[in-house]
Amino acid sequence: MEISLKFAWASLIYLLIGSTMGMIMVVDSLPFTPSHAHILLIGFVSMMIFGVGYHLLPVFAGTDLFSLRLAEIQFWLQNIGLIGLAFTLPYRYTSHNYLLGTIIFGSMSLLAIYIFVYNIARSIMPPKEVNK
Ligand code: HEM
Ligand code: HEM
Repeated sequence: MEISLKFAWASLIYLLIGSTMGMIMVVDSLPFTPSHAHILLIGFVSMMIFGVGYHLLPVFAGTDLFSLRLAEIQFWLQNIGLIGLAFTLPYRYTSHNYLLGTIIFGSMSLLAIYIFVYNIARSIMPPKEVNK
């Protein structure tokens, strides 16, 4: 499947999960606020932007995507990182194990974001003019 569509599908799934969690939090006071917030903001909002961005930004710049391989790596790191964050964030104050989990999965999420920025920045930089 095309990388933009992979991100779009993931985004739609996180929207379903995140907003359902929000409704569950309304009726039952579970400590899910940070998971809900990140599933919706990284999962739904950012993943949709990553997907659309990979497709459109190189088109706007009149260039090609710098690396499809990096985009695939970002996709997996971003998803594993987010799922790990969602499970560990609510309980990181209560146990060192959860804190360690948040640090590991948070670092994965951050690395994935850095990869996106690098890949897009390299993609939309204008090609160097050939000296005549
Ligand atoms: C069915 C839809 C939703 C429901 C029922 C819902 C419900 C909730 C509830 C109960 C809280 C906790 C509020 C508190 O205790 O202070 C919350 C927090 C939050 N929600 Fe939602 N939510 C929904 C959709 C969304 C969406 C679509 C987004 C973002 C795209 C979002 C982003 C957030 C954020 C960022 C917080 C944390 C706010 C803070 O830091 O105080 N929510 N939501
Ligand atoms: C790169 C990985 C990220 C890590 C490791 C991370 C980590 C955290 C942590 C530890 C908190 C405090 C939660 C608490 O007090 O219980 C937090 C809060 C928050 N973060 Fe992130 N974050 C990340 C990315 C993002 C991104 C990309 C967004 C928005 C697009 C975002 C939006 C928020 C919001 C709105 C809150 C307040 C939500 C709440 O009240 O629970 N975060 N984040």
